[in-house]
Amino acid sequence: MISWKHYNPVEIIFGQGCRASLINDISNKKLLVVTSLRGKKQISDDKILQKMINNNFIIDSVTSNPEIISIQNEINKLGDEEFDAIVGFGGGSAIDFAKAINLFLRLKNLNIDLASIIKSPKKEYLVKTSIPFYAIPTTAGTGSEVTQFATVWDHINKQKLSLNYNLFPSIAIIDPELTFNVPYETTISTGLDALNQAFESIWNKNKTPFSSYLASKSIGLSIKSLNLLNEDLNNKEARIMMSEASLLAGMAISQTFTAICHSISYPLTAHYKIQHGFACAFTMKSVAKMVLNLKPNSLSEVVEFNNINSAKELIDELENLINSLKVKETNKKQLKDKNSLFALANEMINPARSDNFILPVNKKLVIEILEDSYY
Ligand SMILES: [Fe+2]
Repeated sequence: MISWKHYNPVEIIFGQGCRASLINDISNKKLLVVTSLRGKKQISDDKILQKMINNNFIIDSVTSNPEIISIQNEINKLGDEEFDAIVGFGGGSAIDFAKAINLFLRLKNLNIDLASIIKSPKKEYLVKTSIPFYAIPTTAGTGSEVTQFATVWDHINKQKLSLNYNLFPSIAIIDPELTFNVPYETTISTGLDALNQAFESIWNKNKTPFSSYLASKSIGLSIKSLNLLNEDLNNKEARIMMSEASLLAGMAISQTFTAICHSISYPLTAHYKIQHGFACAFTMKSVAKMVLNLKPNSLSEVVEFNNINSAKELIDELENLINSLKVKETNKKQLKDKNSLFALANEMINPARSDNFILPVNKKLVIEILEDSYY
C-alpha cells in the first residue's frame, strides 16, 4: 500500500449568502482589505459587505497578474500601520496580492523587501504566525482561497514568480452569489482554470486517493457547469456548481501542485497576455489524449467517479467542451505565429510544475503538445 498525507488547514465556509458570517467575525476589527477597483465597488454596492470598508485600510489597486513592484509600492504605503486581520477580496489576483502582503507583514521585522524574499528563499521565511487572513473569491476558478502559494509577475523580465511560503488563508468564504454577475469571458477563463487544475492533479505524480477524489468530483461539476454557463450566464445553479468545482480543484492542487499545462501556460500569459484559464486550457485536450494513449489507467478514478463509460468518452466530452468554448481560437487570436510560439518551448519547462506531470517532460514533448494544440 502506498502511504500518503493530506494537509490543508483552511477553514472553509461555503454557500449562497454565507458572506454574512464574515460580518459577525470582523466587527470591531481593524482590517486591511486587498481588492481591485471593481472589487471595491462590489463591496460598497453589497448590503452585507459594505460595512467592511468603513474605517478600514483599503488597497484597491489590484489588476490581473499582479506585479511585484505594484505590491511593494502598496507595502511601502502601509508604513507602521498594524491590523487585526487581512481580507483578500476578488479573483485569484486579489487573493494572491493579499497573500504577498500578508507574507510581508509576517516578515516585517526582518527589514527585507518582497523581491528578495521571493528571489532568495530562506527557511526562516516560513513562519506561520500571522493575523487572521480571510480569502473571499468573487470568481470561480483559481482556488487560491485554499492554496498555500501565490503567483506574482515580473513583467519587465516576462517572468512568473511563485511564492510558496505556507500562505494558506485562515478562512475561505466561498459565496457563489458573489460570482453571479461575472462577465462571460472571465467566467469561462476562470472556469477553465478550475477544470484544468483538476485534470492537472490527476495526471500528477503527487496525487493521493483524496486529491483524486476531489479532482474527479471537480471535473464532473466543471464540465457540466461550463456547458450550462456557455448557454446561459444567468444559470444560478451552474454558478453554484462552478464555485464548488473551483474550491475542490483548489484543494486538490494544494496537495499535488499543477503540472504540464500550467507550466506551458505561463510564457503564453507573460509574452502574449493570454488570460490564465485560456492559456492553461490551450494544451488540455492534447495532454488528455496523450495521457489516454500512454497512461490510460491514470484517468480511471475520474471515469468511475463520474459514471462515464470509458476514458475515451471522458476525453470526447472534454473535447466537445473545449471546442464549444473556442479555446483554440481565443488563444490563436493573441499568438503571433507558430514559430514564435514554438521558440518558447524551453521556457515552458518550469520544473516546479512540469516535473509533477506523470510523463517525463523535455523539449520534444512540449513541441509535440504545442503542435497538436495549434492545429
Ligand atoms: Fe491555474
